[in-house]
Amino acid sequence: MPATKMKPPEPDAAFEMSLRPPMFSEFTGQVKVRERLELMVEAARKRGDVLEHVLLSGPSGLGKTTLAYIIANAMGVNVKNTSGPVIEKAGELAGLLTSLEKGDVLFIDEIHRLQPTIEEYLYPAMEDYRLDIIIDQGPQARSLRLQLPKFTLVGATTRAGMVSAPLRSRFGMTARLDYYSAEEMQKIIVRSARLLGVEIDPPGATEIAARARGTPRTANNLLRWVRDYAQVRAQGNIDRDVADAALAMLEIDRDGFDQWDKRIIETLIHKFNGGPVGLSSLAVAIGEEAGTLEEVNEPYLIMEGYIKRTAQGRVATANAYKKLGLKPPAGMQQELL
Ligand SMILES: Nc1ncnc2c1ncn2[C@@H]1O[C@H](COP(=O)(O)OP(=O)(O)OP(=O)(O)O)[C@@H](O)[C@H]1O
Ligand SMILES: [Mg+2]
Repeated sequence: MPATKMKPPEPDAAFEMSLRPPMFSEFTGQVKVRERLELMVEAARKRGDVLEHVLLSGPSGLGKTTLAYIIANAMGVNVKNTSGPVIEKAGELAGLLTSLEKGDVLFIDEIHRLQPTIEEYLYPAMEDYRLDIIIDQGPQARSLRLQLPKFTLVGATTRAGMVSAPLRSRFGMTARLDYYSAEEMQKIIVRSARLLGVEIDPPGATEIAARARGTPRTANNLLRWVRDYAQVRAQGNIDRDVADAALAMLEIDRDGFDQWDKRIIETLIHKFNGGPVGLSSLAVAIGEEAGTLEEVNEPYLIMEGYIKRTAQGRVATANAYKKLGLKPPAGMQQELL
């Protein structure tokens, strides 16, 4: 079977930028995280100080990059943007750090993928704003100490558990983003629709929100698809029926399941008898990469209680059986209560 992905069009950078809330007041949801960050920013500003380092973690598309830019914006500083796997040599890190002005934000995305050697260089930079780099090799090797401007490191990770303890401990604040509630999703969709200049009524927004898996990026991508559909098949306005028909065409069901999610629980139940099965065996059976499965589909399926991660592997829950219209195995019935 060809593995065609029926996912909404990939977000392009310009589209994402245009919908990104530029300040805390426009950032919906994640109330505790937002309040803490706002307070930190206000305190630092009042003292005329540089903001502490911040680590943002949570699944993809929930607003980590958005918050990094909001933080910099609120502090009135520049952002330098990089990503863990991109920094290959200590010299590159040194280049980035020495290009910062006092108070600037260095945003390191996927910070759990920093090489261990690079990470070691980052420790004194974060703590004492200095960088000791070794130049030359062998007997000529000497260490050069660079004094850095006081800066704020904002790190983002989808895998909080993979951030080493020494790195994590050097952040003044660690904030974990979680999936958004249905009401928050609806607010985000209404805001995005306004920015895109499309009419949407509340039931239309609810319909999209229900299938966006608690993820603003998904909501925006679905909205864009529904807008296109409305332009071609309706009068350009989005209501419940238009949203429903447009999303049915993408084969996304009312629980926000796409073909891949369905295939995951089908495979788990039919091929592996409900599990437990290791992630890589499951991935091979589905024809998907283990990494994608683990980072894209699985978090939502786990959060919604369709699968469980156990020490022995992935296990289908009673909800998964129900979702496929099957009767859960006898021992499992109780879980549904
Ligand atoms: N709280 C929010 N309110 C409104 N829009 C949001 C919010 N959070 C995220 N978005 C929208 O969702 C999109 C994705 O957010 P963002 O790029 O910040 O996610 P991320 O957590 O950095 O994802 P990744 O881990 O894949 O890098 C943004 O373009 C933004 O428009
Ligand atoms: Mg990001």
